[in-house]
Amino acid sequence: MKKSITVPDILSKKGKEPIVMVTSYDFTMTRIIDSSDIDIILVGDSAGVVMAGGEDTIGVSMDQMIYHTKCVTSAKPCALIVGDMPFMSYQTSVEQAVRNAGRFLQEAGAKAVKLEGGARVRPQVEAIVKADIPLMGHLGLTPQSVHAFGGHKIQGRGNEAARKLLDDALILQDAGAFSIVLECVPAPVAGEITQALDIPTIGIGAGVHCDGQVLVIQDMLGMFKEFKPKFVKRYANLFDTIKDALDTYAGEVRQRTFPDDEHSHMQ
Ligand code: KIV
Repeated sequence: MKKSITVPDILSKKGKEPIVMVTSYDFTMTRIIDSSDIDIILVGDSAGVVMAGGEDTIGVSMDQMIYHTKCVTSAKPCALIVGDMPFMSYQTSVEQAVRNAGRFLQEAGAKAVKLEGGARVRPQVEAIVKADIPLMGHLGLTPQSVHAFGGHKIQGRGNEAARKLLDDALILQDAGAFSIVLECVPAPVAGEITQALDIPTIGIGAGVHCDGQVLVIQDMLGMFKEFKPKFVKRYANLFDTIKDALDTYAGEVRQRTFPDDEHSHMQ
């Protein structure tokens, strides 16, 4: 039987073996994911795009995230489940941040939470960790700041920006984060940050030197075709596989070859 993966297990992989993380938002996909050897399942606020069809993650609510997290935890995966704190669920006060982080564990069964930002969310990170809620940081192209960045732009380019990213990463580590997602950061910068930290980095568009990698499940399975960032590798083409199955089904229904005797109750 597979063993459940814990936060200390993730920490112990630093410098030893790469950490594999994907997103999930529902029961069925989580069952498939957990049949493979995946370390962490992130219930990402990317749900607002790939599940709800929004343009970005800004409109995602706590209730949406609790719903998706419950759908994922109900599959009882062995992978560590991390719930993603949505925009405005932690920015306005430390108390609100702790309460909302607590909801992910208490109401939805997550084992940890993730939030975006560095120095400016230090008080929230410290308070969440002090409440014994394991926390994953997220730096670089943090999607909840897309309007402040003026679009989906690579972060940490140039010495000053790279230094600021490293400072933010060290602040998150000091504040008690158990890992940090680095999104859309030049590979050498992500490599330097990874070397400077005792906690694991998990990259998305941040090169091969991170301690682990994460991809959005619909992207890596070739289901989501609205746009494809450079860092997305499609490991399958499920859009076409599913479409082919639907075409076959539609054809059989129209030709009255489905349902046949095998799929009918004859008495
Ligand atoms: O919401 C999400 O899916 C994420 C990952 C891309 C890291 O934050």
